[in-house]
Amino acid sequence: MADVDLKSRSDTRVGGPKDGEVRFYGVHHLALNTDDMKMTVDFYVGVLGMRLVHAMKVPPGLGTGPGNRGNPPFEEVRHYFFDMGRDGLLAFFEMPKGAKERGDRNALGAMQHVSFAVSPESQARICKRLEAAKVAYDGPMEILPGIFSIYVFDPNDIRLEFSCQPGNGEGEPCIVPQVTQTKNEALAELKTLTGDRAFLDRATSGLAD
Ligand SMILES: [Fe+2]
Repeated sequence: MADVDLKSRSDTRVGGPKDGEVRFYGVHHLALNTDDMKMTVDFYVGVLGMRLVHAMKVPPGLGTGPGNRGNPPFEEVRHYFFDMGRDGLLAFFEMPKGAKERGDRNALGAMQHVSFAVSPESQARICKRLEAAKVAYDGPMEILPGIFSIYVFDPNDIRLEFSCQPGNGEGEPCIVPQVTQTKNEALAELKTLTGDRAFLDRATSGLAD
């Protein structure tokens, strides 16, 4: 189904890191907010089948006062972690009920949505689990060439997406090569952003010709 030849999208970063090169290994943890941890566990573990791996409360002194480093401004809030695959953690803080208003996912600086990588078979299983729990979802629909997604809102009104690549078969998806453009393909869009040649060269330095 995928019409992109993955092998033709050469990764310019193959091999060990070169001098001064910064390497990213995916998401370490993504931290989201709820005001009902039990409801959240019910959804992620019970409905989606995600694994809870760590349950704790933020240590005292970090919520209010000088110890706060940007974490929720409440003392000893619950902080639970789920295994979202590829060695990444999905985390939730539990705000006191009524302490915070519901967020606007389209606000600047907000998270619009998060997409989890799944196999086609797991995506179908998630659809079945959502249907059994009477949770409405959209899709599957092709959102990028060869990539099909479903969309659903969790009980906190967080927009979730589950993306798979049917053309890639079962098992772990191969996401970045699927969407990586050539220099010229990217430049077609980037030139609408600026005509600054140095910027355009810099922005496309990680792409093959
Ligand atoms: Fe998305």
